[in-house]
Amino acid sequence: MNIPFNKPSIIGRELEYIQQAIKNWHISGDGTFTHKCNLFLEKELGVKKTLLTTSCTHALEMSAILLDIKPGDEVIVPSFTFVSTINAFVMKGAIPVFVDIHPDTLNLNERLIEEKITGKTKAIIVVHYAGTGCEMNKIMNIANSHDIPVIEDNAHGLFGKYKGRFLGTFGTFATQSFHETKNFSCGEGGALLINDEKYIERAEIIREKGTDRSKYFRGEVDKYTWVDVGSSYLPSDLLAAFLYGQLEKRDLIQKKRKHIWDIYYKNLNIWAKDNGVQLPTVPDHCEQSYHMFYLIMPNPEKRTAFIQHLQKRGINAVFHYLPLHLSKMGEKFGGAKGDCPVTENISDRLVRLPFYNDLDIVNMDFNHFYDF
Ligand SMILES: Cc1ncc(COP(=O)(O)O)c(C=O)c1O
Repeated sequence: MNIPFNKPSIIGRELEYIQQAIKNWHISGDGTFTHKCNLFLEKELGVKKTLLTTSCTHALEMSAILLDIKPGDEVIVPSFTFVSTINAFVMKGAIPVFVDIHPDTLNLNERLIEEKITGKTKAIIVVHYAGTGCEMNKIMNIANSHDIPVIEDNAHGLFGKYKGRFLGTFGTFATQSFHETKNFSCGEGGALLINDEKYIERAEIIREKGTDRSKYFRGEVDKYTWVDVGSSYLPSDLLAAFLYGQLEKRDLIQKKRKHIWDIYYKNLNIWAKDNGVQLPTVPDHCEQSYHMFYLIMPNPEKRTAFIQHLQKRGINAVFHYLPLHLSKMGEKFGGAKGDCPVTENISDRLVRLPFYNDLDIVNMDFNHFYDF
């Protein structure tokens, strides 16, 4: 494939920092670079606490443990998302209550939330699709009026903003992904952002196998022991070193990605109008994170033909989420066709174009699109 869908990149001092971590003789978790990443995110975003994790999936699992999700609890979730958004809660016995999305931003439709709230609702989980913010003011108002915590699955949205405020700073928790496909990456990685101080102490314990080891390392206790449930959710400092090399190049990475996104938009605008193709919608009050460029084709047949057309020309475009309410697991929870009509319709028509920091967009041959 001439142009893959994704390609990892070295942008700054990633390799030098990995060597430094080795020279520090600290390549397990919570070394110098993990602290640097945590502090960087806390300072830049203004969140109370950041804990680097092994993945966004694990940060979501930590959220479910922190909220004491129990069998039979309900969580309101979009069906149009990655499986982990939901599975992290289902693993604790929660029942997913699926909500449909807006046809333009593809974000959870806040107008459908209230009718799904019951006495068993324990969390509302939102996903800022492609790094464009959900309607957070309205969502937080609904959640606060029912005293239900919100979790922002912000896997796509690091440094995106809603009404001037960073995504990830609205909910009780937010979760980030540093998987290979994300704007900032260390291969596999994530973070839990905590906006409510009362959860910080327990989050540190859950992340450290249910022990108060973090307190021990800070000299707050003279030995550490088993105090709660937990697992091993902390990444190696080697990964944190790689990630820090990327985070400190935040401006450069975001500039590159904005450039790619803008060129896609500019070059495909007329073609899209002529062919009934929908381009991404970013409302004026949102600053997107430039994570992804997607197209919504007029019908599923055109989507399949378009992916094949690009593939023959060396461009690897891919589809995205399948409706989770119609998956094997979703059906076990009563999901049926027609429950989330917008999700069902969009999912069959969406195509993501190649998007990575080093993509040579200037030399992309847009005739391949106009040929279709
Ligand atoms: C919305 C969303 N949440 C969570 C994840 C899982 O992220 P990770 O691979 O870091 O666990 C993804 C993966 O791409 C995602 O798209």
